[in-house]
Amino acid sequence: MIEFQAVTKRYPDGTVAVDSLDLTVEDGRITVFVGPSGCGKTTSLRMINRMIDPTSGTILLNGKDIRESDPPLLRRGIGYVIQHAGLFPHRTVLDNVATVPLLSGVDKRTARSRAAELMELVGLPSTMAKRYPAQLSGGQQQRVGVARALAADPPVLLMDEPFSAVDPIVRDDLQQQLLRLQSELDKTIVFVTHDIDEAIKLGDRVAVFRVGGRLAQYDSPSALLAKPADDFVSSFVGRDRGYRALGFLTATGIPVGEVATVRAGDAPERAREALVDGWAVVVDEQNRPLGWVSADLLSTMDKSVDTEALVSGGSLFEVDSSAGGTAGSLRNALDAALSSPAAVGIAVDGTGAVVGGVTADTVLSALADARSSGEVPG
Ligand SMILES: Nc1ncnc2c1ncn2[C@@H]1O[C@H](COP(=O)(O)OP(=O)(O)OP(=O)(O)O)[C@@H](O)[C@H]1O
Ligand SMILES: [Mg+2]
Repeated sequence: MIEFQAVTKRYPDGTVAVDSLDLTVEDGRITVFVGPSGCGKTTSLRMINRMIDPTSGTILLNGKDIRESDPPLLRRGIGYVIQHAGLFPHRTVLDNVATVPLLSGVDKRTARSRAAELMELVGLPSTMAKRYPAQLSGGQQQRVGVARALAADPPVLLMDEPFSAVDPIVRDDLQQQLLRLQSELDKTIVFVTHDIDEAIKLGDRVAVFRVGGRLAQYDSPSALLAKPADDFVSSFVGRDRGYRALGFLTATGIPVGEVATVRAGDAPERAREALVDGWAVVVDEQNRPLGWVSADLLSTMDKSVDTEALVSGGSLFEVDSSAGGTAGSLRNALDAALSSPAAVGIAVDGTGAVVGGVTADTVLSALADARSSGEVPG
């Protein structure tokens, strides 16, 4: 547990970066510090590992004042990941990851085999071990940064905008992976971002800071969306907060209706009979969706349903199933319906096979049910 008690940081030029911060970071959880540029997120983070010392106030790590710990020793138990990974350019990827174990006296062979395990853990192929950081993409470099921070197996991990410099798709991937890693490792993670969507996706608890280094609200993501403490938080969490709140309601149990499916390669006449409201989903051998076909499109196909010519489907959403998938949210379900050319969102099981479809109306009535049963504030 990390406790900030009335912590203030005033820089020598008089700037108050953090103003009497009181906050408790729970063990084994992801706590996100979010807020606009210059609101004191990095300063707060760096005070935890004593890269910056507070002007006043106290920080306790597991009940002990961190001022009583020797900084290098303290940092051995605290991994640190920054935006551009901060890798050593003249060391190979493997040696970058092995650095920390080597520093703490582990022999070279053990350090390298540990580093190889960590590379696998963060999803980097072993073929990359011998490359230098400049020979990796930005997203791969960030993975190395995460592997290196985990190398000493520290109970605490500080991450300062680790995924900000990569494109949205890679970023999404890195976020998913962090959540997966965390479900296995149970670290105490403090994650800094200026992106509220990232905060909501990753945080078990989210601390919203305002400029001047003041804590505006500290809550679970759903509470933040449902009950912003004031106008600042409300505008910071944004206009779409009602829509985003749908992300916290699972799509499990929503009534999934039948959806018309045809096989790739079926005869067009046969496919035509299967259409419902003029549309059908074309599926492969494993019943996985390939796209949509309409009556108009079928009339352009002569021998069989041509998978090259399909209308691409919208997003899919997963419903929990015996195939061991993880259920999507009502937000996923609604997005699937809205982005589908046939206005029917496709539900898939854990193997990606089509199990049915939902319309936006179905999702909204599931929401109304959740509201009337008190599952969400109305
Ligand atoms: N060494 C320093 N000397 C003087 N002022 C500083 C110093 N470091 C940071 N500041 C100021 O303290 C305030 C908080 O800075 P900090 O880096 O903690 O913000 P941040 O929330 O991490 O911002 P960003 O999102 O831009 O990274 C800012 O006004 C910044 O200009
Ligand atoms: Mg910062």
